[in-house]
Amino acid sequence: MTLDQKNFWPQFKKNYWEKEPLLVKNFISPVKDLSEDQIFSMLVKYSDHCRKQKNADGFKFYIDGQIQYEQETLQILPTQKDKTLQGYNQRMEEIFEDYCLVCDELLQVSEKNSKKLQDFTTTLFKHVGFPNRFIEMGLYLGNYRQTPFGVHVDGCGVFSFPVVGKKTFRLWTPEFARKNPALDRAHNYSKFKKNSQTMKASTGDMTYWPSSSWHIAESDGSFNATWSLGVWVDLTHQENLESALRPLLKSKLGELGIKTMVQLSKENSSAEALPQNYLETLKAIKNISENEWHDALLKSWLELASKKGFKNFPQRRTSSKVSLKNKIKMNESSSSILWSNLQSEVKTIYAFQGNLIESKLSPKVIKLIAALNSRQICLISDYIQKNDLTIVQALVKLNAFEIL
Ligand SMILES: [Fe+2]
Repeated sequence: MTLDQKNFWPQFKKNYWEKEPLLVKNFISPVKDLSEDQIFSMLVKYSDHCRKQKNADGFKFYIDGQIQYEQETLQILPTQKDKTLQGYNQRMEEIFEDYCLVCDELLQVSEKNSKKLQDFTTTLFKHVGFPNRFIEMGLYLGNYRQTPFGVHVDGCGVFSFPVVGKKTFRLWTPEFARKNPALDRAHNYSKFKKNSQTMKASTGDMTYWPSSSWHIAESDGSFNATWSLGVWVDLTHQENLESALRPLLKSKLGELGIKTMVQLSKENSSAEALPQNYLETLKAIKNISENEWHDALLKSWLELASKKGFKNFPQRRTSSKVSLKNKIKMNESSSSILWSNLQSEVKTIYAFQGNLIESKLSPKVIKLIAALNSRQICLISDYIQKNDLTIVQALVKLNAFEIL
């Protein structure tokens, strides 16, 4: 089965997406191209970063199912001396009978490898749409026999890709879990086994379960490493709107400076009339134009779309300077720059990997961006003049381009 196999995704959307679990044997996708060596290099690079920062954010470490403090976690992270994933496991197994290391931020250290995951998610989202929260890719490795935190449910659907070893995923329906609350966080669930469904996955396979599935991973205690892609779909439309509109409401209403509310003149009197400061608020809300509401939603949408659904996009800033004489092209790993004209102001907004840049309206800049997006090499002076260079410079800083 391959990622591009024509019938797979329409079938997946119809029968499985947010409905049913699925195991696909030998699934050929760009995620499979991430070799053990590449994964080990990413682990060491991210561990080095953590050691330098003296903070283990992005890692979680469990011994016998118990989460460890940050200081302990920093002590056991992979180092270059381990040489391979197996080498790291050997060192750990000498100390711990049952350990599990989780890293959620691994793809941050490699734009190139992150692009491989994007190729997978782009195909997925083409069929099922963007998740309304985000996607997150975690690597789980260790010799642990079951998920350290027991049987649970997340707000995300999960795709798993075993890299080393075998794993059994045991699943229960939400209906069964509702009727059997003892399943929640259970480590000993033998009496519920007959009501579960299992998926046995080996290296190269892919499994999926919907966000409502209760689950636990099991193994025989030999070393395994598995990618787990969480597709978080648990945000309500209301929560989405709240965060999209917050900046607009803050800029329009935050300045009213209301700190106290009027007291009722008599305890038992009617409270029909709104306090004066609420009346002022109503007036301010009424003065927000339809175009301003539109632009607030537009900005939120561009941020999500330019992040391609990722929670964290690998960010690499540069301090390079460009001039009109430079030739530039999009970086190989860069995704396209999105742009849209605002309706409430004569401005264009550019979105690149979750960063939004507002700039005055310039058809010349838009022409340059369109040429770059289509992967052309562009001599900047062929498109724009000096007064438009600021926006190009801002995008250079975000490492969107290669200066030739
Ligand atoms: Fe989970």
